[in-house]
Amino acid sequence: MDNHHDNVERFNHIANDWDANPQRVLMGQKVGRAIRTALDPDGSERVLEFGAGTGLATLLLAPKVAHLTALDGSAGMLAVLRQKCERKGLHNVEIIEGNVVEQLPNLEYDVICSALTLHHVGDVAGLLKKLAQHLVPGGRVALADLDTEDGHFHSADVKGVMHHGFDRETFGRWLRDAGFTEITFSTAHTVQREKEDGSTQPYSIFLAVAQKPVA
Ligand SMILES: C[S@@+](CC[C@H](N)C(=O)[O-])C[C@H]1O[C@@H](n2cnc3c(N)ncnc32)[C@H](O)[C@@H]1O
Repeated sequence: MDNHHDNVERFNHIANDWDANPQRVLMGQKVGRAIRTALDPDGSERVLEFGAGTGLATLLLAPKVAHLTALDGSAGMLAVLRQKCERKGLHNVEIIEGNVVEQLPNLEYDVICSALTLHHVGDVAGLLKKLAQHLVPGGRVALADLDTEDGHFHSADVKGVMHHGFDRETFGRWLRDAGFTEITFSTAHTVQREKEDGSTQPYSIFLAVAQKPVA
């Protein structure tokens, strides 16, 4: 099975339990808030969020923008998001099942964002180039994922993890190579994980914001 199929299978399997983990919910919401604060939307934006999952970030961002397309490879995760949107009467969220690497909608967005999904994608540098082609001039990306980690953020049997986090310098170079400017990094959240010996291991999550040049 390829990487994407591994991810689809895993996330479909855990979709209904995803929001039952308080640490996961806190992480998604903290990152969602960091994205919202960094973008400071004026309500006119058309947004693509890939790897939207059960919508922990989506639900914070959607009420602040004109339209949000939530793309995810897992039908199970999206079914949970769909139910939440219906319950909350959020009518500006369009839900699309697909692989961000191969099935980006043929549209241009003001913002493309993502939380904790890029570590599941093999060729991130290549994806950033594709994302730039799907932004309007002056459009922005807001991408959050783990800083370089020790390989223990996921347990050893989890398939579909392509990167143990990212080095900010390398990620910044990939953004520049994709044509982005105005690149900034901040720390969106730090997860504290308990180790077997009772000590805690911090895992920080970066948020990179960058702009496609106007001309
Ligand atoms: C770790 S979860 C994060 C979900 C959500 N952003 C959050 O913060 O709770 C990663 C999500 O990315 C999705 N995903 C992984 N690889 C993908 C790909 N190539 N295309 C689209 N979605 C993908 C998975 O189905 C999953 O819902």
